[in-house]
Amino acid sequence: MKVGVYSTKSYDREFFNKANSTFGHELTFFECPLAAGTENLAAGFPAVCVFVNDGLNAKVLRVLSRNGTRLIALRCTGFNNVDLEAAGKLGLSVVRVPAYSPYSVAEHTVGLMLTLNRKFHKAYARIREGNFSLEGLLGFDLHGRTVGIIGTGKIGAVLARILAGIGCRVLAHDPVQNPECLELGVKYVPLSELFGNSDIVTLHCPLTTETHHIINAEAINRMKDGVMLINTSRGAVIDTKAVISALKSRKIGYLGLDVYEQEGDLFFQDLSNEIIQDDVFERLLTFPNVVITGHQGFFTEEALRNIAHVTLANIRDFESGRKCANAITADQVIVRK
Ligand code: NAI
Repeated sequence: MKVGVYSTKSYDREFFNKANSTFGHELTFFECPLAAGTENLAAGFPAVCVFVNDGLNAKVLRVLSRNGTRLIALRCTGFNNVDLEAAGKLGLSVVRVPAYSPYSVAEHTVGLMLTLNRKFHKAYARIREGNFSLEGLLGFDLHGRTVGIIGTGKIGAVLARILAGIGCRVLAHDPVQNPECLELGVKYVPLSELFGNSDIVTLHCPLTTETHHIINAEAINRMKDGVMLINTSRGAVIDTKAVISALKSRKIGYLGLDVYEQEGDLFFQDLSNEIIQDDVFERLLTFPNVVITGHQGFFTEEALRNIAHVTLANIRDFESGRKCANAITADQVIVRK
């Protein structure tokens, strides 16, 4: 099938071309994101393949549909950037990669926790400058601490297992209790109890109308003083301005982010010679107790291999008229960008 692949980087081309040797699709790679103004590149492509920050609102989808596109193949898990209702009305099918490596994101989450706690980012810079002082690098044992996981699906469950191995007490909140977590001894509690008892709060739920700004000023007030907050889910589950206020008052003692509400204008690009216009993001960078990575939780070899394989298999299923298990429809939709 002819597929227009948006937002491509060198690693996308590498992994997709390798996986495509068994599928034989006709892939055309575009470096630009899919957004208002770039839709026409996909004219004549029955399928387009997109990533987390491509913006597929109703207007963009209408242009794609008019130009002959019938399939939107997301090469990611989240689908908050697609107006599924509009897609359904236009007769556009949408498929995604529901799982590719929960380990990648769970392990990255632990990396953020350890970096914030043991201050690897500071130690790295210090040692390179010949500064061997330990002043300001004091951490704490993770063993025995309480971690609250919001969302115990695939990633949350892997994280719970790692944390249990370290010796943490794990609390969780999720409308659906995961038997794997129950078996590990994870205790499901209401959100207020999770906030009040956790030394570390970490987010692993999807972005939905219910989870949009689930971490707001009120939620933060219920947390322990000096709490560590980690978000590797989607930027908008956190109210960034409320988090900045809490960093200033020291209510939040550590913040680790792999995602950011307005990341679409920043992430996945080299802007090192540009003037960043996002003052909220720039404010976050001024705190010594904030570590930000640019949506790289998923970025492992295993994950990229699986993403390419599942995406191309989804496209093959659509082309051959087979029902695709990874199709998503409007009843799963929530927040649209
Ligand atoms: P999953 O679908 O397996 O698990 C999500 C869990 O969240 C489910 O158990 C669900 O019941 C729960 N949930 C839904 N609404 C909730 C609420 N209101 N409160 C608490 N829990 C709620 O998804 P998976 O694979 O574990 O991924 C989780 C999220 O991680 C994705 O939605 C995506 O946003 C993010 N993600 C981030 C990546 C990164 O590179 N940083 C890569 C992949 C996913």
